[in-house]
This record gives sequence, structure tokens and C-alpha cells, in this order.
Amino acid sequence: MAFLYTLTARGEPKTFDCEAPMTKAKASVLASFSLLLFGALAVGFARRTARAPEQPIAFNHKSHTIDRKIDCSNCHEYYNQQAAAGIPSVRTCYTCHSRVQTNNSEVKKIFAYYEKKQEIPWIRLYQMPDHVLFTHKRHIKVGLTCRECHGNIGESAVAKREVDHTMGRCMKCHEAKGASIDCLTCHR
Ligand code: HEC
Ligand code: HEC
Ligand code: HEC
Ligand code: HEC
Ligand code: HEC
Repeated sequence: MAFLYTLTARGEPKTFDCEAPMTKAKASVLASFSLLLFGALAVGFARRTARAPEQPIAFNHKSHTIDRKIDCSNCHEYYNQQAAAGIPSVRTCYTCHSRVQTNNSEVKKIFAYYEKKQEIPWIRLYQMPDHVLFTHKRHIKVGLTCRECHGNIGESAVAKREVDHTMGRCMKCHEAKGASIDCLTCHR
């Protein structure tokens, strides 16, 4: 299966344009307050998303990561470089699947999106409200594992949100590890 190793999605068009927003906003207290208020509404909304929503294609992490030993970075390629880990583009799927399992009915759905030049409309499980700053790069650098914040999604057959990223959870670890708990560390 040598071709698997040539497919580390490098050079693929980026699905995410995520310059890490690390510069602390010099926003006035007033501005932050109204943003947080809006955020509270957004959080309420986010909490209503299902833990394991039906996805547009029945993607199975386990069959890729465990059975075929494909590393997370093939599909979430920015986790140690940027704020966002990144969701794979339809091209990333196509790169392998133009040759692999081409008769599988779920794989055929990839071809349909690819031909229409459309991204697959994956339903997000983990998404912070706009007023929260989060960066993968910093957390991966200090040695935290994916599992610590995402449970075993990477090894599972059906993606499910197992961890609730509440403010309390972020704070608890920041306190325990001596990371900043200043409001403006995590809020713009
Ligand atoms: C690095 C190569 C590679 C990439 C990238 C890749 N796949 Fe796969 N995929 C495979 C292999 C290998 C299999 C297993 C084939 C087998 O078991 O015979 C597979 C199997 C599948 C199957 C069949 C059911 C199953 O899980 O066994 C589906 C559906 C699928 N992939 C969807 C996707 C989607 C959607 C993407 C993009 C998000 C994707 N794949 C990206 C290599 C890849
Ligand atoms: C072959 C491509 C592929 C590989 C390899 C892969 N993923 Fe994924 N991952 C996806 C796709 C596609 C989605 C979106 C669909 C879904 O949630 O099932 C996703 C979703 C996720 C999500 C949820 C993101 C969100 O906010 O919705 C997490 C967390 C995640 N993967 C972690 C991992 C980890 C950890 C690994 C390695 C152990 C890994 N993935 C390996 C393709 C992949
Ligand atoms: C310290 C906790 C933490 C760790 C460690 C972590 N994540 Fe995340 N992850 C998050 C949070 C929080 C979000 C939501 C980010 C947002 O919406 O801004 C997220 C979102 C994601 C997403 C959705 C797309 C994106 O980039 O926003 C993927 C995919 C993902 N993580 C994969 C991974 C993988 C793979 C690893 C391990 C290499 C990992 N994560 C480690 C907390 C973490
Ligand atoms: C399991 C532990 C853990 C969890 C959970 C965690 N963090 Fe962190 N976080 C850290 C550590 C440790 C650092 C310090 C990294 C460093 O020193 O570079 C850090 C650093 C950060 C930074 C950069 C701080 C700076 O000085 O600029 C931000 C922003 C951040 N975390 C946001 C979050 C948010 C938002 C959440 C919840 C969604 C979260 N973290 C959850 C451990 C954690
Ligand atoms: C380590 C990261 C972190 C720090 C530090 C932090 N927050 Fe948060 N905060 C979050 C996250 C993540 C959310 C949204 C997730 C959730 O709670 O559901 C949030 C949500 C909020 C909300 C939205 C309302 C709600 O409760 O859902 C308010 C208001 C808020 N934070 C205020 C503050 C204030 C004031 C401080 C300083 C004392 C602070 N935060 C420090 C991570 C942090």
C-alpha cells in the first residue's frame, strides 16, 4: 500500500483559512462585554447540536486510522501548525478514493461532491463560539493528546462528541498546569 504514504495531503488546497488569532484584542471592556453576551446566545445554540449527528457520508475513523494505519495528520493536517486542526477537503478524500473502494456506495458520494466542485458539508461536533480563542498548536506543543480533549473519536466507527468543552473544563486544566486564566487569554 505504498501509495498511502504519498498522500499526506501536503500541497492540497486549504479548506481552512485560519490565521491563529493570537494577538490579544485591545477591545474595550464594553466591546468584550457585548461580544460575550452574543457568545452566550451562540453557546446556547451550539449546545443543541446532536452528539452524533448523521453526516453526509458515513465516514468511519476506525477503518482508516486503526485498520489502515492512516495518521490523523493526513486529514487534520494543521494541528501542530495552526489554531485549527482542519477538516479534510473533498480533494483529500478523492486523492485516495479515486483508486480505493470505488464501488462503495458511500465512496461514490465523494465523487458526486468532487464533480460538482462542492465541499462535503460535514456537521461539526466541536466548535467554539466566536468570542472564544482556541489554538491547537499551543496545546499540542505542550504534549497534550487528541484523546484528552476529543475522547476516542479518532478510533471510533461513528464520530461522536464525547467531551464538553465548557469554560469550566478549560479553566480546570489551565489552573492545574499553571497556564493563564486571564479572561483575555481565551476571549476576544
Ligand atoms: C490516505 C488514503 C485515504 C484517504 C485520504 C481517505 N480514505 Fe477512505 N479509505 C481508505 C482505505 C485504505 C479504505 C479501506 C479500504 C478497504 O478496507 O479495502 C477506505 C475506506 C473508506 C470507506 C468505505 C467504508 C470503510 O470505512 O471501510 C469510506 C466510505 C471512506 N473511506 C470515506 C472516506 C472519506 C469521506 C474521506 C475523506 C474525508 C476518506 N475516505 C479519505 C483510504 C483513504
Ligand atoms: C481519512 C481522513 C481522516 C483521518 C485519518 C482522521 N480523521 Fe478525524 N475527521 C475526518 C472527517 C471527514 C471528519 C468529519 C466527519 C465526522 O465527524 O465524522 C472528522 C472529524 C473529526 C473530529 C471532529 C471535528 C468536529 O469539530 O466536527 C475530530 C475531533 C477528529 N476527527 C479527530 C481525529 C483524530 C484524533 C484522528 C487520528 C487518530 C483523526 N481524526 C483521523 C477525517 C479523518
Ligand atoms: C486542549 C484541548 C484539545 C486538544 C489537545 C486537541 N483538540 Fe481538537 N479541538 C479542541 C477544541 C476546543 C476545538 C474547537 C475549536 C474551535 O472551534 O475553535 C477542536 C476542534 C478540532 C477539530 C475540528 C476542526 C478545527 O480545526 O477546528 C478537529 C478536526 C480536531 N480538533 C482534531 C484534533 C486532533 C487531531 C488533535 C490531536 C492531534 C486535537 N484535536 C487535540 C480541543 C482540543
Ligand atoms: C488538558 C489541559 C488543557 C485544556 C483542557 C485546555 N487547555 Fe489551554 N492550555 C493548556 C496549557 C498547558 C497551555 C500553555 C501552553 C504554553 O505554555 O504554551 C494552554 C494555553 C492556552 C492558550 C494560549 C495561552 C497564551 O498564553 O497565549 C489558549 C488561548 C488556550 N489555552 C485556550 C484554551 C481553551 C479555550 C480551552 C477550552 C476549550 C483550553 N485552552 C483547554 C492546557 C489546557
Ligand atoms: C481557559 C479559557 C477561558 C478563560 C481563561 C475564560 N474563559 Fe470564558 N469561556 C471559555 C469557553 C471555552 C467558553 C464557551 C464554552 C462554554 O462554556 O460552553 C466561555 C464562555 C464564557 C461566557 C459565555 C457565557 C456562558 O457562560 O456560556 C462568558 C460570559 C465568559 N466566558 C466570561 C469569562 C470571564 C469574565 C473570564 C475571566 C474571569 C473568562 N471567561 C475566562 C473559556 C475561557
